[in-house]
Amino acid sequence: MERSVSAVQPMLQARGLSKRFGEHEVLKGIDLSIARGEVVAIIGPSGSGKSTLLRCLNLLERPDAGEIWFEGACITDPQVDVNRVRMRMGMVFQLFNLFPHLTVLHNVTLAQERVLRTPRAQAQERARELLSKVGLAAKEQAYPNSLSGGQKQRVAIARALAMKPAVMLFDEPTSALDPEMVQEVLTAMGELVDEGMTMAVVTHEMGFARRAADRVVFVDEGRIVAEAPPERFFSDANSDRVRQFLAKIPG
Ligand SMILES: Nc1ncnc2c1ncn2[C@@H]1O[C@H](COP(=O)(O)OP(=O)(O)O)[C@@H](O)[C@H]1O
Ligand SMILES: [Mg+2]
Repeated sequence: MERSVSAVQPMLQARGLSKRFGEHEVLKGIDLSIARGEVVAIIGPSGSGKSTLLRCLNLLERPDAGEIWFEGACITDPQVDVNRVRMRMGMVFQLFNLFPHLTVLHNVTLAQERVLRTPRAQAQERARELLSKVGLAAKEQAYPNSLSGGQKQRVAIARALAMKPAVMLFDEPTSALDPEMVQEVLTAMGELVDEGMTMAVVTHEMGFARRAADRVVFVDEGRIVAEAPPERFFSDANSDRVRQFLAKIPG
């Protein structure tokens, strides 16, 4: 594969990231660096802080301490325009959050027109390209409620890509799907990986992590407790905690 990962300048980096909700310290000093073109799978038990970590990375949550660097700039600096930063990071959630009253095509053109000020014809052209890429060209006039979960999630991926993000953040993109739909979403994600997209993927799909990730990061109780390329991560999971966790996950 022609994937090139730049070791020189991280695309996205968390330094000493901490976050608490009231008394509960959810992130306890996270250091995580993602290089341009790198795919990082983030795994760990429920409640360990994975979603909070992703939400801090794109400033949906404000960290209490630490810094986030993105494309060479410190984005936790209060001067930074949060909306500009978010535009450069595509986020795909467990639940698709599509607009139910808009067609699939319109879901994918909306932010291009409103935020990027892309002319409609051009936004539609890009939307059609992306819908065809995720296998949904035929559904452009459909409304989200008529789609399966897997189709909705593929629309959500196309919608995020429409903004030409520098990095894609996925938060358990397949865990709300019926099993038969998981694969079609993982396939769409795998294509992005092959194209060299920089990605952070919170997932329980160990097959995907093994195949597609350059690195697997294990989060437990707000800390990164293990981190390694997948071959090494899965073969000699060197902490009891990681072994226990993997033993509970099918596949
Ligand atoms: N907005 C919030 N307010 C209060 N507690 C929260 C909030 N978001 C997450 N938490 C708590 O933080 C912990 C980590 O949550 P989360 O990041 O969602 O974990 P994960 O994604 O690994 O399951 C959980 O105990 C959760 O209840
Ligand atoms: Mg979560």
